[in-house]
Amino acid sequence: MAQTTGTLLIAKGKDEISIIPRMANRHGLIAGATGTGKTVTLRVMAEQFSAIGVPVFMADVKGDLSGIAQPGGERPEPSARAKQLGMGELAFEGCPTVFWDVFGQQGHPIRATISEMGPLLLGRILDLNDIQSGVLTLIFKIADDNGLLLLDLKDLRAMTQFAGENAAQFKTEYGNISAASIGAIQRGLVALDQQGGDAFFGEPALDLSDLIQTGPGSKGVINILAADKLMQSPKLYATFLLWMLAELYESLPEVGDPDKPKLVFFFDEAHLLFTDAPKALEDKIEQVVRLIRSKGVGVYFVTQNPLDIPEAVLGQLGNRVQHALRAFTPRDQKAVRAAAETFRAAPGLDVAKAITELGVGEALVSVLDAKGSPTPVDRALIYPPHSRLTPLTPDERAGIVRGSVLFGHYEKAVDRESAYEKLKAKAEAKQAAEIPTAKQKGRTAEPQSDTAKIFGAMAQSAAHAIGSQIGRQIIRGVLGSILGGNKRR
Ligand SMILES: Nc1ncnc2c1ncn2[C@@H]1O[C@H](COP(=O)(O)OP(=O)(O)OP(=O)(O)O)[C@@H](O)[C@H]1O
Ligand SMILES: [Mg+2]
Repeated sequence: MAQTTGTLLIAKGKDEISIIPRMANRHGLIAGATGTGKTVTLRVMAEQFSAIGVPVFMADVKGDLSGIAQPGGERPEPSARAKQLGMGELAFEGCPTVFWDVFGQQGHPIRATISEMGPLLLGRILDLNDIQSGVLTLIFKIADDNGLLLLDLKDLRAMTQFAGENAAQFKTEYGNISAASIGAIQRGLVALDQQGGDAFFGEPALDLSDLIQTGPGSKGVINILAADKLMQSPKLYATFLLWMLAELYESLPEVGDPDKPKLVFFFDEAHLLFTDAPKALEDKIEQVVRLIRSKGVGVYFVTQNPLDIPEAVLGQLGNRVQHALRAFTPRDQKAVRAAAETFRAAPGLDVAKAITELGVGEALVSVLDAKGSPTPVDRALIYPPHSRLTPLTPDERAGIVRGSVLFGHYEKAVDRESAYEKLKAKAEAKQAAEIPTAKQKGRTAEPQSDTAKIFGAMAQSAAHAIGSQIGRQIIRGVLGSILGGNKRR
């Protein structure tokens, strides 16, 4: 295909429409009803980013993205579209692809530590209210202050139990740790465990620089997170991707507006981010999206209805592809009008009407011009993808996973000594030392000396931990101020 180097050609309206690489970090939106061509548009954009050396991260919600690793040609639609656009023969081509999977089945396992995730995001995953989240924050603080690493779920479970059992002891220094809140956190942890959350948390945690890679021919690597199973726990899905964004924000240096993005992050089913999100979290999301731009990360939201995205966020999405929307119900019609209003009007185009008439793979498109202003909206046909629309077979996929330079690193889970192990060792030591009658005295009688003993030993290991890389996690960092998590480096 005749692609001029350094442009991101996505559609053809009156003229060719491309996203200017220097404007690609000003975020984007792909919206439209089901079956209107959103995923293909996402794929076309991803291919273009890859072609100019920009790595991409995307979650594969429906399992229809893996084919991007292979050349297309197996289905007639792309060639038909090429013909329609007068492009001649399509040069079919796949992109260098890395597969990730929280459950470790369809790609390299992808993990975060509990302490990186932080209390705010975890509170959301665990369905906690404000008071319960406050207690979770205290638990993090107690762990931090005492050098107890929170890496996996069993660390957090042990720490929660420990905080509950010693609530009276911690009250003066940390505040009230009510039994009810402890109970709520524990229930949340059980539910998370049942959703497979156990696989999520632990080490080796994802090193974000592993996402920002180029492959053969200097093409940007396409990172695909298997999200079909993950979507069964929508909160976990949304929170995990949000955590990734926040971590990216934290770990990447300030670059202003680079010639092209360092990474482009596609957020499919983006409405899930905002469903039931408390205002505080919504504000944080808005903040992360706004700030991450200057780190050279472009975020592209993919959603059925643009109304599902809060205005403050929507206003920051400069490059827009609006596929067809239906206008059956009053809510539909409202969405159509709202979507139409977000575009800069173009003479002779009734935007609201056009939105309901668009065909599959056709869209209203407006991108940012060289000065950063949105171009007048144009009715356009999206270019065809060059990669395979049909998903990879499990064997093809496994072959790519095994062939990756990353293979072996994330596959081996590490379980270092952390809060769980230390608290367990202490509990065992305590039990061994106790004579049966002492047990009857109840736990309020002696906790002072017990916890003092525990923390004495811990101070030593904390000092050791701080020296190690992961130990630095216990120091609150920039992410702490953004999302309440702990800085890793
Ligand atoms: N630009 C395009 N060129 C050629 N064919 C296209 C294009 N866009 C869409 N199609 C055709 O339309 C089909 C449906 O598109 P797609 O899967 O992108 O819809 P979607 O909006 O993502 O739907 P859903 O909401 O169900 O995920 C594709 O499988 C493809 O056959
Ligand atoms: Mg889709």
